[in-house]
Amino acid sequence: MAKFLMITATSGTNLELAERFANVAKDKGHEADIVDLAAMDLPMFTVARSSDPEQSPDVSELTQQMIDADAWIVVAPEYNGSFPPTLNNAIAWLSRDWQNFRKMCTGTPVGLATHSGGGGAHVIMAMRSMFSFLGADVMGRALTSGRNKDANPETIDAMVDNLAR
Ligand SMILES: Cc1cc2nc3c(=O)[nH]c(=O)nc-3n(C[C@H](O)[C@H](O)[C@H](O)COP(=O)(O)O)c2cc1C
Repeated sequence: MAKFLMITATSGTNLELAERFANVAKDKGHEADIVDLAAMDLPMFTVARSSDPEQSPDVSELTQQMIDADAWIVVAPEYNGSFPPTLNNAIAWLSRDWQNFRKMCTGTPVGLATHSGGGGAHVIMAMRSMFSFLGADVMGRALTSGRNKDANPETIDAMVDNLAR
């Protein structure tokens, strides 16, 4: 049994997709939690803000959830050919403790998924580039879906099975 953390960058169709992944994982006997980065509503990362403890958000709970998980599935819509600011912003805050952040990312199995306006190929590429840079073990297969393409249940199944290994 594996412990999954579904990380969604937005609270609409991508949260729904994260819930689908979580339900499939639970049906297979795994544990699955969901974190909604948009709902966290973190302030925008700036060096000035991050140097001031009073202005820095407490991301220790999210950090612990990520450490406790065996695998992450990151679900984000494409924004302007890349990922949304909520994801970039959360990663910036999490990475302030750089050494521990690298340690937490290194070797973690990560699956990528999107529900985007179009095909979503660019957000998958952008997330693959960032999470690979961070040392994660990013799965080759990813799930793309959008206005004109439903999420393929076989892909959800296969991703959960392979990430749980
Ligand atoms: C600022 C912004 C930029 C967007 N850029 C793209 C894009 O480059 N490619 C694309 O396919 N969809 C783009 N979209 C559409 C979103 O990917 C799409 O609406 C997605 O389903 C939103 O996810 P949500 O329902 O979880 O909020 C953009 C939407 C917004 C708000």
